[in-house]
Order: sequence, then C-alpha cells, then structure tokens
Amino acid sequence: MKAIKVGLLGIGTVGSGTFNVLRRNQEEIRGRAGRGIEIAMVADLDVARAKGIVGDSVEVVDDARKVIANPEIDIVIELIGGYGVAKALVLEAIAAGKHVVTANKALLAVHGTEIFAAAHAKGVIVAFEAAVAGGIPIIKALREGLTANRIEWIAGIINGTTNFILSEMRSKGLDFGVVLKEAQRLGYAEADPTFDIEGVDAAHKATIMSAIAFGISVQFDKAHVEGITKLQAADIKYAEQLGYRIKLLGITRRRDNGIELRVHPTLIPTNRLIANVEGAMNAVVVQGDAVGSTLYYGKGAGSEPTASAVIADLVDITRLHTADPEHRVPHLAFRPDAMSDTPILSMDEVQTAFYLRLCVADQAGVLSSITTILAENDISIDAVLQRESAEGEKQTDLIILTHDTVEGRMNKALAQMQALTTVLAPIVRIRKEELA
Ligand code: NDP
Ligand code: HSE
Repeated sequence: MKAIKVGLLGIGTVGSGTFNVLRRNQEEIRGRAGRGIEIAMVADLDVARAKGIVGDSVEVVDDARKVIANPEIDIVIELIGGYGVAKALVLEAIAAGKHVVTANKALLAVHGTEIFAAAHAKGVIVAFEAAVAGGIPIIKALREGLTANRIEWIAGIINGTTNFILSEMRSKGLDFGVVLKEAQRLGYAEADPTFDIEGVDAAHKATIMSAIAFGISVQFDKAHVEGITKLQAADIKYAEQLGYRIKLLGITRRRDNGIELRVHPTLIPTNRLIANVEGAMNAVVVQGDAVGSTLYYGKGAGSEPTASAVIADLVDITRLHTADPEHRVPHLAFRPDAMSDTPILSMDEVQTAFYLRLCVADQAGVLSSITTILAENDISIDAVLQRESAEGEKQTDLIILTHDTVEGRMNKALAQMQALTTVLAPIVRIRKEELA
C-alpha cells in the first residue's frame, strides 16, 4: 500500500525530532501501521534551516496554508505552538478534511471545545498525545487503557522545568532565583519561562487530563493556577524535616459536588514514588476505582521523547482513518452525547490539607492563640514543629500541618491568625496531599 502522506507545520525542536525518528525507524513503524508514513511537505518560517533538516527530497515552503491546500496530504502535524496562527491553521486543516496531530497543549486547553467540535462535525481526528507529559503515553492510558474505570483523581508532575528547579532547590539548598538562572543556562527553561514557572503550562495539561478523565469540556479558565516563584528554600527544608517533598502538581479530583482542577506547589510524603521523581522528568498518578493507583513516568519534553508521542498519533490515525468515525475512540474519551456538565469547583470549595509557616514572637501563649483559631474554624492539626530559637532571638518559625479541610475555612482562619500582633510576617501556606 502507498505511504500515507503527512504535512508538517513548524520544524523546530519537536518537528525535527519527528522527522528524524520517522526516518530512522521507518521500517518498524511501517510494520506497525500497516503502511509507510511519509512527511511529504514541510512549512516553516526559516526555509533554509528546514531544508538543512529534511534535505532535498521533501518540499519545504514558508506558507503553512500551501501544505493544508495540498490534496495529497492526509494528515497535518501542527508543531508551531501558541494560540494565534496555530489555531487558525488547525481549524483550516480540519475544514479541508485533514486529520490533525498536535503537541499544542495551550491551544487545546483554551480552544479545545471549538476544535474538537469542528473535527467531530467534519469526521476527522485531532490527536494530541504529545500535548500532555511529552513522551509518556498518558492520553492513551486515560482514554483507552483505563476505560473500564471511574477515575477518582489524577496528580501529576507535568512540567519538567519546574521539577528541575524544585529538585535543585532541595538538593542544593538554593533559592528559586539562583536555580532559575541555572535552568536557563542549561536550556531547560526558556528565555521567557513565565508559562512554566507560573504554573500555566502545567494547568494546560491538567485541564486536558481533567476533561478526558471526567467527561467534561476543556475549561482552562476555571483552573486554579499557582506557580513556584514564591517558594522559599526554608519551606523545602522544613517539609523535608516533616517527611515531605514539595512538587508542583497538577491535580484534578472528582468530588460529590463537582471537580477540582488546580495547579500549585504541594507537599507530598517522601515515601510516595512520585515524590522521588527528580530533575526534568514527569510522572502522573491516576487513581481508578477498579485498577487502584497507577503511575506513569518518563520524559515530558525534548525533541525525540515528544516526537515519540507525535508518531504514536500518526500510527493510530494511519490505522484508523478509514474506520467509520462513529467507531473511533472519542477525542475526550466520552462520546459527545455522553459528556457531563459537572461543574469545576471554586478554590473555596476545594478540600486539601495544609502546611503553614508562621513567623511568631517567641513568647508565652502564642501557640495557644493560633491553635484556638484553627479549632474555632474546625481545622484539625496533624503535626506541629517549632524551630529552636537562637540565643537572644525574639522570634521563631512555627510550622503546622493540618488534616484535610475546606479551603474557604482555611482562608478565614489565615486572616484571623494574620491579624494577631504576635504573627510577625505574612503566613506561608502550601497545600498538602497524601495521595493515598
Ligand atoms: P519550536 O519553537 O522549537 O518550533 C516551532 C517552529 O515553528 C519553529 O521552527 C518556527 O520557526 C516555526 N513556525 C513559527 N511560526 C510558523 C508559521 N506561521 N508557519 C510555519 N512555521 C512556523 O517549538 P517546539 O518544537 O518546542 O514546540 C512545538 C509545539 O510542541 C508547541 O506547541 C509546544 O508547546 C509543544 N511541545 C513542545 C515540547 C518540547 O519539548 N519542546 C514538549 C511537548 C510539547 P521560527 O523558529 O523561524 O520562528
Ligand atoms: N516547558 C515544558 C516543560 C515543555 O518544562 O515541561 C513540555 O511541555
């Protein structure tokens, strides 16, 4: 059978990896897909650089629309990134009846509803394995491997840049700013690392997983997004003393009254496997009612790891594109008529435990006034640690771990504690999850 023809939009980091891996492993991929998969046309703004990667045998153009307009092309891979031109090109490819593969989590988290509706109406596939956790086949696992389960919760380290920074802060005792510069020097963090360090990239990925897990539409605007820029080395050290590590987690959890969708620094017990995922690696824990806890680990970024996921999508489409659209795996795991309108909960309604660090005057009655406020707000204490004061020092750090509570209640207690004259600095509050 003739090879299926693919058009590639954007041949940067992931695009070049995709081209190289497809060429290197073409025989095995053909054996698995049932026919060859050939990148027949490439569009990139830098035509000379693109030609340097693909050679003379592939047509390279600077206008992506020429690729979409080519009737020979069956699948368009969008590896440009961002919400602007990428959105227009993906919608144009769908309108032209092409299947689409994309690694663009930002695009799908924000505009997924429109894109999947357009694809469904046109009977084409939009595949996006590379959009969440790079090379880890987490979309396949959630959508197909765990399809028997009622998913209870997902918690993932889904941003490599921030995991690298947190690992370095912990192992070397350094502050955030110092490690960020090192991450940029090593090429982990981009020149503008805002989306990574402010939690936006992780929230894009958590939003996509949430939709697949719970059969809801993608709702990035409802996600709680908090990054790691305010984390201090002292809190990483205190957490360690209490048997916890701090990770930036993307969490989505089913509750009786709705769905939690949040990204924030989180204390997790050191003895959990996911707490030991270090450096730029990614890992996702999925809790299903039948299977229990499952863990997926691997490289969440990089040229060839991400290409691995892009090509998996190409193979899936090559196998399935002639199938009746009704018999394909739905984009978001549930058929459009089986999607739910379960609401995403506000942060005030989220249930979690807390780590609190209070800088307090070292005098009689301080601990009691704080525990009284917690008790009055029905917040139960799990552990307390007080730093030994140095000779002559008039203040100290008081660390409190709480049991699960509702965030709105904690906010009320925090305001009351902050108002005490014996609390000398803004209280540090980090959420804590046992992931049991
Ligand atoms: P790069 O910036 O390395 O590559 C993007 C390429 O697209 C560049 O070569 C760029 O050209 C080209 N481009 C920009 N605008 C156009 C246009 N209008 N028409 C054609 N080509 C264009 O990005 P990445 O490869 O890193 O990322 C691609 C996608 O994959 C993004 O959505 C990203 O979020 C996602 N992703 C990336 C991962 C990674 O490890 N890098 C991991 C997982 C997902 P020029 O350089 O000349 O502007
Ligand atoms: N910036 C992302 C990360 C790339 O650091 O994980 C992969 O999406």
